[in-house]
Amino acid sequence: MEERIQKILSHAGVASRRTAETLIADGRVTVNGHTVSELGSKADLATDDIRVDGRRVKSDARRRYVLLYKPRGVVTTLSDPQRRRTVMDLLRGVTEYVYPVGRLDYDTEGLLILTNDGDLAALLTHPRHGVERTYEAHVAGMPDADALARLRRGIPLDGRRTLPAQAEVLNPGHRETEGVVRLVITEGRNRQVRRMLEAVGHPVDRLVRTRIGPLSDHALRPGYWRDITPAEVASLRRHASRAVAPRPVGDAIGAARETAARKSGRTKPRRPATRTARPAPASPRSASSRPPSSRPPSSRPPSSRPASSRPPSSRPKPTRTTRGSAPPRRRSR
Ligand code: URA
Repeated sequence: MEERIQKILSHAGVASRRTAETLIADGRVTVNGHTVSELGSKADLATDDIRVDGRRVKSDARRRYVLLYKPRGVVTTLSDPQRRRTVMDLLRGVTEYVYPVGRLDYDTEGLLILTNDGDLAALLTHPRHGVERTYEAHVAGMPDADALARLRRGIPLDGRRTLPAQAEVLNPGHRETEGVVRLVITEGRNRQVRRMLEAVGHPVDRLVRTRIGPLSDHALRPGYWRDITPAEVASLRRHASRAVAPRPVGDAIGAARETAARKSGRTKPRRPATRTARPAPASPRSASSRPPSSRPPSSRPPSSRPASSRPPSSRPKPTRTTRGSAPPRRRSR
C-alpha cells in the first residue's frame, strides 16, 4: 500500500516522523534509486526499494522500547562531536535502531525512553498531548508558598509563560538549607525546570526525572536500562492519546474550550494549545555515527551486580535491568 514516505520511515523504526521529514529534505532518502525531496511523496515498502543513506529500509524491524536511567554527565544524542559519553554508549545489547524520546540535559539524570517506534515517540513529545514529566530538583534554599504558586502559574521564559505546572516541596521544614521540589511539567522547553527554579530564586543543584506519564521505576539505577514491558507501552500510548496540554494561565477562552471539551468527552481540544517549543528531535543515527557493535567500551568496570538484584517489590516481572557498561552479553530478553 502506498503511504507517505515519512510515515513509512517512522513505522519502520528509522526515525520519528519529524526527523524523517528532515531526512527527506536533506536528500538522504531514495526510492528505487531516485532521491526524494518532496515531503508529500508516496511509496510502497512492499514493492519499492526505499533507502536512507544507501541502507535499505526493512519492514520487519522489531519494535523496541527501552527505559534508561541516564546518569549525570552523559549527552542525550546519538553521537557527540566532542566525544563525550552518550546515552547510546549505555545501551550495550540493544541491537535495534532506537533513538531518545526527547532529551535530558548533560547535567540532568533520570528516566529516558529510547525506541524505534516513531509513532509512540511523536505521541509522547508532541506539545499538544501535554504528557506529564515529573522532576525532583534539589535546590538552594527552601521555596516558600509564593515561589511554589509562581511555579504553578507559569514563569515567563523567553517572553512566553510556561504552562501551568504542579509544584510541591518534598522536605518541608525550616531547618533545611536545600529544598527538594517535585515539579510536574507538560512541556519540553530548553532547560525548563532549571530556568523556572532559577527564576524564583532557587537554582538547581541536582535534577532527576522520576516519571514520564505513567512510567516510573525507582529501582532502576544510574547507567542501567531495561525493556519497557508491553503493558507499560500500552499504558504510555493510552496516556499520551488522552492527555491534553493545560492552557497558559490567563487564557480564559482556551480554558473554557478545554472545559467544554472535557465535559463533552472529547479528549483533545479543537485547536492545538498555544504553540510551544518542541523538544528537539534527536537526529537519526547517521551513516557516520557508530553502530552499537562498534561503540568503544565504557571506562566503567563491568558490573558485578546481577541484573536480577533489584528489590523484588519494584521489579517489573518480565524485564531485567542491564548496566550499559557491562561487557558484551546476553540480550536482555
Ligand atoms: N528541565 C531541565 O532544566 N533540564 C532537563 O534536562 C529537563 C527538564
